[in-house]
Amino acid sequence: MLDGNKVLFSGMQATGNLTLGNYLGALKNWVELSTQYMCFYSVVDMHSITVRQDPAELRKRARRLMAIYIAAGIDPEKACLYYQSHVTGHAELAWILNCFTYMGELNRMTQFKDKSAKHADNINAGLFTYPVLMAADILLYQADVVPVGIDQKQHLELTRDLAIRFNNIYGDVFTVPEAYIPKVGAKIMSLQDPTKKMSKSDENPNASIYLMDDADTVARKCKRAVTDSEGIIAYREEQPGVSNLLDIYSACVGKTPEEAVKEFEGQGYGALKTAVAESVNAILTPLQTRVAEIEKDKDWLDQRIKENAEKATYYSTKTLRKVQKKVGFPVRPR
Ligand code: TYM
Repeated sequence: MLDGNKVLFSGMQATGNLTLGNYLGALKNWVELSTQYMCFYSVVDMHSITVRQDPAELRKRARRLMAIYIAAGIDPEKACLYYQSHVTGHAELAWILNCFTYMGELNRMTQFKDKSAKHADNINAGLFTYPVLMAADILLYQADVVPVGIDQKQHLELTRDLAIRFNNIYGDVFTVPEAYIPKVGAKIMSLQDPTKKMSKSDENPNASIYLMDDADTVARKCKRAVTDSEGIIAYREEQPGVSNLLDIYSACVGKTPEEAVKEFEGQGYGALKTAVAESVNAILTPLQTRVAEIEKDKDWLDQRIKENAEKATYYSTKTLRKVQKKVGFPVRPR
């Protein structure tokens, strides 16, 4: 809660190309929820450097991500869209929260285990304490709700534990946030291996639909999507490929997977794949046009970035000063 308003916070990494999973699991819901909350959406570039990045590329992708947020329907004159690295409070609160987080808690994080297996030559301390920075992001703005895909649920639980732990020691300092995980689209799977999450970092480009893929590429990827030999369109665990296509379709058109199954009764996988591609393109084509328009208007975007960084700094500093006082840091002379 801030200034009497319920608060929404969420963020995305500008690492790799954004996928349809990022859109359906998170961004789409950000837009839908944005009218009900005071919203903060961050491009979390500080999280990105836990894995080695090319600096020019990171900067470019971060700007593109900002344009995608806006193109998806978030109004930067109402919601606060900003780069995490422009607001110093994130790092400052993360340090304090580090001192309230146990090694055992971080050791249990599945994303840390996955990422350290993938980047065995660079298991840095930032990768380990990544969930603490994420908790700082959320708690700085006193967020009530955090819309994310299912893969972030464990990080959200840690955030809640840290907020409760801190509040138990120092009184009511932080709002304890709730995760908002959508019923459909919370875990979009790889098109090539439907037992794996669709991911920006997948080496096989056919495994993911990227938000900037053109219509033909989307159609080709859908056509090649791995299914099974059952030949029946059903939504069940034994058919992960077909179920994933149904998930994508229903999330895109706003139906339940059960309704989608009925719609495709008696039809083959080819028909389903064509319909999936069409439903995806109906979202991506206009999104891409908007991204191009937004990127053209450089001054306008720069101005929004500047104003919103100031707004985020204002609210985050309020929480930070309270926390600093609670833990015993000397008051700043006026
Ligand atoms: P990131 O950048 O990996 O993903 C951004 C959002 O997309 C969701 N997502 C998916 N949803 C459905 N299916 C998929 N295949 C899929 N892949 C990704 C993620 O759940 C996420 O919501 N640590 C976060 C970023 C972060 C953050 C935060 C999020 C940093 N601080 C504070 C919320 C609040 C991350 O790496 O997300």
